[in-house]
Amino acid sequence: MLNTIRFFLPTKIVFGEGVIPDSLPDIAHYGKIPLIVTGKGSARKSGLLDFIAGTLKNRNISYHTYEGVSPEPSTDDCMKVARVAAECGADTLVAIGGGSAMDVAKAAAVLVRNQGPIQTYFGEEKFQNEPLPVIAIPTTCGSGSEITRYAVIIDRQSNTKKTISSERIIPKMAILDPAVIRTLPRNLIAGTGMDALCHAVEGFLSTKANHLTRIFSRESVGLILDSIEKAVQHPRIEYLSNLLLGSLYAGFVINHTGTIFIHGMAYGMTIRHQIHHGTANAICLPYALAFLKAHNYEEEILELERIFSIDSIFEINRKIGIPIHLGELGIKQEDAHILAEMAVKGCERSFKNMKISVSKEEFVEIFSSML
Ligand SMILES: [Fe+2]
Repeated sequence: MLNTIRFFLPTKIVFGEGVIPDSLPDIAHYGKIPLIVTGKGSARKSGLLDFIAGTLKNRNISYHTYEGVSPEPSTDDCMKVARVAAECGADTLVAIGGGSAMDVAKAAAVLVRNQGPIQTYFGEEKFQNEPLPVIAIPTTCGSGSEITRYAVIIDRQSNTKKTISSERIIPKMAILDPAVIRTLPRNLIAGTGMDALCHAVEGFLSTKANHLTRIFSRESVGLILDSIEKAVQHPRIEYLSNLLLGSLYAGFVINHTGTIFIHGMAYGMTIRHQIHHGTANAICLPYALAFLKAHNYEEEILELERIFSIDSIFEINRKIGIPIHLGELGIKQEDAHILAEMAVKGCERSFKNMKISVSKEEFVEIFSSML
């Protein structure tokens, strides 16, 4: 018998090569004064920002632009965007970028309409007033943020990543064009693609998984494993399309299941050693799966092993340029203790999605084995 299935998706999704110009005018349904929120250069450099700006002008839609989101954004980024949005009277936020731009836009959408420090809103449904509507145009193939309820932000006060989680920050519309991913550097195709794979796998193993999310997990894992090496070596549209779709499906999954301890482990690697979010997850993935197999998750891992072996993840990482060992990144034995402490903190939320929790000593062991 099937377990209870809950599935909620309020986002209008348009997916396909060349869909941006015809879809953009729809943002007028959500507001009259959009603020484009993007990173520090890549959308401008790739020509996407000019293309979108030109399309909006041609349709007589006036807009404002904020081009300053950091690659690993903190609470400061969110407050800056909220301030700019309030100053220009924006009533819609259009996020162009990877998880960073989209998450900052979602958090800023909350801050514009709710007074008080951002820390007040970390956690589940912690704000009162309806946030500004967000439209998302992802330029990476990994975060799934274009359809998720999460804004994950570095909080310097607690030195970890914190999450604003609410169905009300799920973007109203997501426009996904795989052609946009063509200009993404190959290390980011690799890192963001593996981030999406981790979302699909972690969601599969979450205690909140249900029959429907597992269908999307399997489909996502299949699409990503089938295409990631080819996409990194030859970024052709068919491979990028598979990665972007795999990332979207993995977003459907984590929107309901959350992630498990792999993301929590990787947060410290990003904050302390500046390792890209998806790359850090990809490095942790095979070690974490081996740990779970020996700690009360044997049945679930065996089910996953019908699709891929744990060893094959090492092989894929090697082929797409992701390190196998932390030593390759200059991380040393003494760092294992600090990373373990950060992992315990970073996993606060994810332990709620797991059958077990992992102690600091066990994290030290895992990180030591990764050296
Ligand atoms: Fe992620």
